[in-house]
Amino acid sequence: MSSKENSQPHVLVADDQRDVLEALRLLLKGEGFLVETVASPAGILAALDKYDFDLVLMDLNYTRDTTSGREGLDLLPRLRELDSTLPVIVMTAWSTIDGAVEAMRQGARDYVEKPWDNARLLATLSTQFELGRALRRSQRLELENQMLRRDGLPALIAESRVMQPVLELMKRVAPSDANVLVTGEHGTGKEVAARWIHAASDRADGTLVTVDVGAISDGVFESELFGHVKGSFTDARADRVGYFELADTGTLFLDEIANIPTKQQAKFLRVLETGELQRVGSSRTQHVDVRVLSATNVDLHQVVGKGEFREDLLYRLNTVEIRLPPLRDRREDIPLLGAHFLQIHAQKYRREIEGFDRSAMQAMLSHGWPGNVRELQHVVERAVLMAPGSKIRSEDLGLQARRESGPQLEEMSLEDAERTLIQSALARHDGNVSRAAESLGLSRSALYRRLNRYGI
Ligand SMILES: Nc1ncnc2c1ncn2[C@@H]1O[C@H](COP(=O)(O)OP(=O)(O)OP(=O)(O)O)[C@@H](O)[C@H]1O
Ligand SMILES: [Mg+2]
Repeated sequence: MSSKENSQPHVLVADDQRDVLEALRLLLKGEGFLVETVASPAGILAALDKYDFDLVLMDLNYTRDTTSGREGLDLLPRLRELDSTLPVIVMTAWSTIDGAVEAMRQGARDYVEKPWDNARLLATLSTQFELGRALRRSQRLELENQMLRRDGLPALIAESRVMQPVLELMKRVAPSDANVLVTGEHGTGKEVAARWIHAASDRADGTLVTVDVGAISDGVFESELFGHVKGSFTDARADRVGYFELADTGTLFLDEIANIPTKQQAKFLRVLETGELQRVGSSRTQHVDVRVLSATNVDLHQVVGKGEFREDLLYRLNTVEIRLPPLRDRREDIPLLGAHFLQIHAQKYRREIEGFDRSAMQAMLSHGWPGNVRELQHVVERAVLMAPGSKIRSEDLGLQARRESGPQLEEMSLEDAERTLIQSALARHDGNVSRAAESLGLSRSALYRRLNRYGI
């Protein structure tokens, strides 16, 4: 840390000869420096511990060993470690000029020969002071940039053991331009992962365009993704830029990628392969520089097996595949995620809630979380609103109650009843889809279809 910019330069002078210290003090004070003096290497460390300095001017030779300059030299790496931006200038008798060279190698910025020439000494000090200040300013900016970059990353809580290889992989692929397919059950954080990868990539300054492929109807798919020119079809009253073009030099995140219409897949693949596209109704070829991230909660390999998804397209998309484990397989993250959502929602609803009591934590740890992190988030949000006290209790979470009370089946529509039965089967079987399917008398894939339909 330095003293404030524009204030007097604060200099630490170290020498074991009193008369030298006094002479330097007088000289430097007269030139507007704020001067501190010490008589030993230990004194330097102690002073640095107490005050902020802009400069250190130190002799290399101390009484313990007056000729080699070792004592002063040995201190230099320590000083560099403490603060690499602090300029250190060494003083040395002309006969030990080798010592000065060695000192520069150890991190001293400059050296002054003894006996010194006042004008030269002052010039050296003021140059080093300016350089040190510039260096510190640039380091501070760099640090601020780093913080900004870090702040730009979406919150991604993943402390559990199972998540470590996942995080490692994300960190490794983020800066590359590799296409990444993120898979995982509903609510496991696929979109968060995609945003994280974009924010940690070299394209972070570019746009992240998110497209829910499942929400685009077949008829407009091509024009939404690749754009169209005016008049190319009845509704095309003006030119339209497609998502691919919007994401140029950035990232395109294709969510629910399994829903891409079969007949669009060939064109889609071609664009991915060549980076070239034509807007609907135009013959002009445009080049786009887009990194593609995609996500799905279905097993694409299975869909390929059924002939509903081109295998070559899958291999284009999943250069790297990141599988997000369900929450029940990473229960260690539950307390952290719980605290994270609690903080967010307590702030949002201006409620002073400190945390979860033991019963609540127990309930959260043993719940099956079929809806994964999203379900946890909703449960905590509701509890923050409902809890009468300053701690959330298990009854505020409503995890058990939900199964027993709530609307009766006969009061529900057929769809709601089906959804409720599926949710309770999943909860009973800790989110294990195969066992839940068995207990409902459904095949696994029939249950998956329903999970998809109900957004469970
Ligand atoms: N690791 C995490 N840390 C913090 N928040 C998370 C994490 N994972 C998920 N969330 C939060 O949980 C919610 C669901 O996450 P997200 O939308 O990314 O899931 P998803 O896998 O895309 O779900 P779906 O398949 O239903 O689209 C979001 O609000 C997200 O912010
Ligand atoms: Mg999603």
